[in-house]
Order: sequence, then structure tokens, then C-alpha cells
Amino acid sequence: MILIDACYKKPTSHTPVWLMRQAGRYMKEYRDLRAKVSFLELCKSPELVCETTVFACETIKADAAIIFADILLITEILGFQLEFAKNHGPIIHNPFTPSHTFPTHIEHEALHYVGHALSATRKELPKHKALIGFAGAPFTVATYCIEGGKSKDFAKVFALMKDHPDAFHGLLSQITDATISYLQMQTQHGADCIQLFDSWVGLLSPEQYQEFVAPYVKRIFNQIQNKPTIYFGTKTKHLLQTMVQTGPTVIGLDSDVSIKTMWPELSYHPIQGNLDPLILLEDQSTIFKETDRILAEVGQRDGYIFNLGHGIVPQTPVENVIALIQYVHEKTAK
Ligand code: CP3
Repeated sequence: MILIDACYKKPTSHTPVWLMRQAGRYMKEYRDLRAKVSFLELCKSPELVCETTVFACETIKADAAIIFADILLITEILGFQLEFAKNHGPIIHNPFTPSHTFPTHIEHEALHYVGHALSATRKELPKHKALIGFAGAPFTVATYCIEGGKSKDFAKVFALMKDHPDAFHGLLSQITDATISYLQMQTQHGADCIQLFDSWVGLLSPEQYQEFVAPYVKRIFNQIQNKPTIYFGTKTKHLLQTMVQTGPTVIGLDSDVSIKTMWPELSYHPIQGNLDPLILLEDQSTIFKETDRILAEVGQRDGYIFNLGHGIVPQTPVENVIALIQYVHEKTAK
């Protein structure tokens, strides 16, 4: 699997490509399916997840599939009431407060639908394509638990951090324990690689990162030793060195950093990402020009996985995604 080789900085026949959120609303087939089933019903049906995951990967000819799921599913076993409301995004109806009571017995089995979906998908997917499992990193998941959904200013997160740091640590610790067992279950069910999404960690100062993120993420990477790991965040320019020290095999880059200047600073640790997802809304010559810039900065070094700097946006034309991946494959073929 060339994605796995690239994670370990081994030479590959071409640069592996997959795209964050590659199965989703930019595809008509996905929108048609979602007209019939709710998002949570879809996530909890291993058959539909397998179909959605494989279809997206095969349609765009990516080198890896990411299992169709969500970083917030885990909140349900921690006693949160999760809903994905139409045109609204996620809602947690009982947001975290310092008096939150966690279930005395965490029912890890309740997430086994993800494991069943992984086993089914691993069987369907061509052998040379990697299957990526994932989870949200504790801080990013905690932001949703605290805010009750998506937030613009994260005011409640910063207030809790300042006024009730012990309660914040308690929440992070619970999410961490659940995440370790969730990810171990995923590797046992066929995930070839694990990505940890820490989408909102860039909000934090280096000091806040050291206190509220690093110890938890380190614990997770320490416990996933048998499969390569990818650690992703956005607006992380000021944190990347520290993020690498938490122990992932690969570090994700958003679109704000220059590979050329950042990669040597990271001692050429394996990297993933960098293409601005909004470029996919432009014409194909612009997409190829930006891709050329990235590939020139990578300069044929091993240990690079082509990806976006953040997820695909729903308005993206599928043809542009297909053209991008074909272009990267042709340009990097050895
Ligand atoms: O194809 C893939 O990449 C796999 C599927 C996947 C989803 N969510 C499906 C989804 C992955 C990897 C995620 C991760 C995720 N979920 C993140 C981290 C990545 C990032 O974008 O920063 C975050 C922050 C979430 C939380 C979440 N889930 C939000 C904020 C929303 C609503 C906004 C949005 O992007 O739609 C979701 C819903 C969600 N997760 C959808 C999908 C396909 C849309 C649901 C729908 O309406 O069909």
C-alpha cells in the first residue's frame, strides 16, 4: 500500500493521494442517499458506510479510503446527547459543565458499528488501497461537548479553561481513554492507518497546547504502535514542532504553511496536506498550477502524502477532484 509506505518515508511508485472529507455532500450519490436516511442512521449502518466509503474512493481514484463516520460519535458513549440537525451541523443537547456525570460504565461496544463497517470495507476495497480509521483528538472533541456544537469564538471553552481547569482536564481524560479503546478496536477491525483530527487546536497558545493537549495526544499515539498515525490540525503554524513531538508517524499541514520553509524545520518528518480546498472551486488550470507549486516544494522527497489543508467543501465539482488526483498521479509517476 503506497500510502503506508509514504507514512514510513519509503519510496513509492507515485505520490499517494486522498482527500479529507472525500465522501460527502459534493457527491450527488451521497446527497441522494442522505435524502433517504439521516446522518446518524447512515453512520450506524455498516452496509451503507461500506458502500459510501468505497464508492467515494473508487470514483475519485484515491489511494486510500477513510471510513465514513464522524469525530463526534464517541460523545454518545460519554453521556452526551448528540444530534445532527438538518442544515445546522452537530448539536449536543446536554453540553459539558463541571457537574457533568460520566457514565460509571463506558459501553465501548456501543461503537462497534464502526468496527463492523471497517471489516466490511476492508473486504470490498482493493488490496493496494489503504483503509484509514479515525477519531477526533480530545481537545477538538471537547470543544463540541463544551459549546454544545460548532462555535465561532469558543468563549465557553476558554472560560472553562480559566475558571475550571480541573473539570476541563477531567473531560479530556475521559475522552482520551475512550479514544484509545475506540482506535484499538478500529485497528483490530481492519484500519491500516489512523488519523487523529485536531481541527481547532490552532486556537491555542503553545503554553495552552502543552497543558491541555500534548499529554492526552501523546497517550493516544503511545497506545497505537502497530499502525501508522497521522495528526491533523489547522492554523497550527506555531504548534507544529510540538505536535510532531507527541509522536505521530505523519504530521498534517493546512494551507497556511509553506512546505519549503516548514519541512526542513520539522527535520523532514513525514507530512500530509497543504492544498487549499477552495482551489478546487477554480478552473482546472489553476488547480494544476497550485498542485505544481506544492509538488515542486516537496521536490521528490519520500514521506509526502498529497491531501488538502482541510476538508473538501460541499460546492466542489466532482470532476475537479477526479482531475486533481489523476494529475498528481501522472506528475509523480516514477
Ligand atoms: O469522507 C470523510 O472524510 C469521512 C467522513 C468524515 C465526516 N466527518 C463526515 C461528515 C470525517 C473524517 C469527519 C470528521 C469531522 N467531523 C471533523 C474533523 C474534520 C474537519 O472538518 O475539521 C469535524 C470537526 C467533524 C464535526 C462535524 N460533523 C461537523 C462540524 C459537521 C457539520 C458541518 C459539516 O461539515 O457538514 C459534521 C457533519 C458531517 N460529518 C457531514 C459529513 C459527511 C455532513 C452531514 C450531512 O449533512 O450529510
